[in-house]
Amino acid sequence: MVKQLWLWTYVLLSLTAAEQPSAPKPVAAPMRPLPWGQLNFLQTTDTHGWHAGHLQEPQYSADWGDYISFAERMHEKADEIGVDLLLIDTGDRIEGNGLYDGSSPKGRYDYDIFREQDIDVICTGNHELYQADAAAREYTRTVPNFQGKYLASNLDYIKPETGETIPMAQRFRKFTTKNQGIRVLALGFLFDFTGNANNTVVQPVEKTIEETWFQDAIREDVDLFLVIGHVTLHGPEYKALYRAIRSENWDTPIQFFGGHSHIRDFARYDSKAYALQSGRYMETIGWMSIDGIKRKGKKEDPKELELRASMTFQRRYIDNNLFGYHYHTALNESTFPTEHGLNVSAAIHKARKALELDYLYGCAPKDLWMSRAPYPSENSLFSWLEKEVLADVATNPERKDNPRLVIYNTGGMRFDIFKGSFTRDSTYIVSPFTSRLEYIKDVPFKAANQVLPLLNNAGPIFEAENLKTWQLAPPEQLGYQSDIIAPQLPTQDSLFAGPAQAPLLQSSPDLVPGYTTKDDAGDDGDDTLHAPISFYKIPNCIQSTLSMPENGDPETVDLVFVDFIQPWILTALRFVGQTYNASHVEPYREEIFTDLLADWIKENWKKDCTK
Ligand SMILES: *[C@@H]1O[C@H](CO)[C@@H](O)[C@H](O)[C@H]1NC(C)=O
Ligand SMILES: *[C@@H]1O[C@H](CO)[C@@H](O)[C@H](O)[C@H]1NC(C)=O
Ligand SMILES: *[C@@H]1O[C@H](CO)[C@@H](O)[C@H](O)[C@H]1NC(C)=O
Ligand SMILES: *[C@@H]1O[C@H](CO)[C@@H](O)[C@H](O)[C@H]1NC(C)=O
Repeated sequence: MVKQLWLWTYVLLSLTAAEQPSAPKPVAAPMRPLPWGQLNFLQTTDTHGWHAGHLQEPQYSADWGDYISFAERMHEKADEIGVDLLLIDTGDRIEGNGLYDGSSPKGRYDYDIFREQDIDVICTGNHELYQADAAAREYTRTVPNFQGKYLASNLDYIKPETGETIPMAQRFRKFTTKNQGIRVLALGFLFDFTGNANNTVVQPVEKTIEETWFQDAIREDVDLFLVIGHVTLHGPEYKALYRAIRSENWDTPIQFFGGHSHIRDFARYDSKAYALQSGRYMETIGWMSIDGIKRKGKKEDPKELELRASMTFQRRYIDNNLFGYHYHTALNESTFPTEHGLNVSAAIHKARKALELDYLYGCAPKDLWMSRAPYPSENSLFSWLEKEVLADVATNPERKDNPRLVIYNTGGMRFDIFKGSFTRDSTYIVSPFTSRLEYIKDVPFKAANQVLPLLNNAGPIFEAENLKTWQLAPPEQLGYQSDIIAPQLPTQDSLFAGPAQAPLLQSSPDLVPGYTTKDDAGDDGDDTLHAPISFYKIPNCIQSTLSMPENGDPETVDLVFVDFIQPWILTALRFVGQTYNASHVEPYREEIFTDLLADWIKENWKKDCTK
């Protein structure tokens, strides 16, 4: 394999034309180039509505319009050198940013913005399916927007008019690439998800493998199998799919693209089967290049064949900013943007204005981190939530003097808070869900007090109910859990460098902190050299203890919790001998939690820090 050169390009950028007007300018950094092959891919996953880019982080400040320009310029380059480029998206396009969550109905502008990218193979994530209305929009909008490209190998939709169960989209796609004539069979999966609304049906992957259409598809005569999915690279689903395809095709290359756990990751299943996962939130665009693909039935130039004697699979994780886009295309601010890309950036700006996403709620006094600070600590978002926010908003006027335990799952928070302006958009970024606080009154304290430790430490007691405790924590934590293909268990409560995060170089004061990925191919995957960041393990749930008596324990408490975790709460209570069921659960606050949080910020952080 060619050893990549360090290219230290400290060209300072002057003004850049596209991105969002309020986006911070990207910072110049040392870069690694993109390796090209016969077949190349750009992947997005888990964008969660961040199609305006990051407006508080320069290294991720490019928007969906810039990504469109980038893809169009890379297509021009591919055509010029006679290779192919395919675009992939593996789901969770919605929930997590005001551009999607800030309208009613949700996504009023976002679906039209997203569809502008010419994606070749696309599938569904779990977030598209939590709410019945979102699943319906997926079927009526996104599937037609990507007709022929949208794949649903293990997902069905139930039509509201007839109750008929039909495939969400076609099960697979067979096509031949434009320049190289590579014959591809593509599949599109969702992991074995069980939290979907009742208008979709997710079939476990193992079951799909047994179906006739699947068994026929993997016997198709093709040059490459392409498996995309909202699926983690080291979970049981891809292991089963890899085995099924390999058992029928001992030598055909298989390229997987995954998602869901929000990390940068690359896995080697065998010398001709690899998998890439491209992070989250429009921070990362994945790049994959494959060389040495044999095209069966095609007359090959012997010289070219010799050049491609062995297969190579190479990956890069591209930081989503214009500095990198200009670098990788060897273009500049005037030559890089395409008319189409600029149009989409303008449409995003218009949508953000219409949604008043820059409307200021207040001013965050400091950075608050989800996992970049230990919990508990001064800079932990969860310590702030527990000690300041919940202590205030988890109050029902009629029950305010009752001692209570308030439990919130850490996965209910989605992003860090940066010191400075806190806007309407920030609210959706931190807390996009429509969850409410509910409670069970007068629970014996001795039982209620055992619930939190069970949620945080006793996964197996929930398994019997088919509840997974990892669903309570942010998906990033999944990247650090045990995995099947290459076990790598982190130690509890300690600073950890999981599979995706480890120091790359000696820390240099010149480097911007960011991803320093370590994966199955080593530590040279990131396109931008960064100073490493430490991540800390956080618990599944946190708890505020309020209005407790001064001396001794209370007899009973109100057990208050966010509605999403009700099944886990009831299971934990049963485990400690309390036979509560759903009929004992009552609303605690009428407002959705996101609105309570916004009100708290308006009240407690009121200050205009833009002046
Ligand atoms: C799905 O749930 C909704 C609301 O709970 C209910 O009205 C509807 O009948 C259910 N639909 C199906 C197909 O079970
Ligand atoms: C961009 O590149 C073009 C073509 O190489 C060149 O003519 C132009 O001066 C460059 N513009 C800037 C702002 O560097
Ligand atoms: C860009 O937008 C303009 C004005 O709406 C339109 O006329 C033009 O066709 C668009 N171009 C592309 C490439 O989308
Ligand atoms: C819930 O528990 C109550 C007793 O506390 C019982 O009367 C009721 O039938 C239970 N409901 C369900 C759905 O099991």
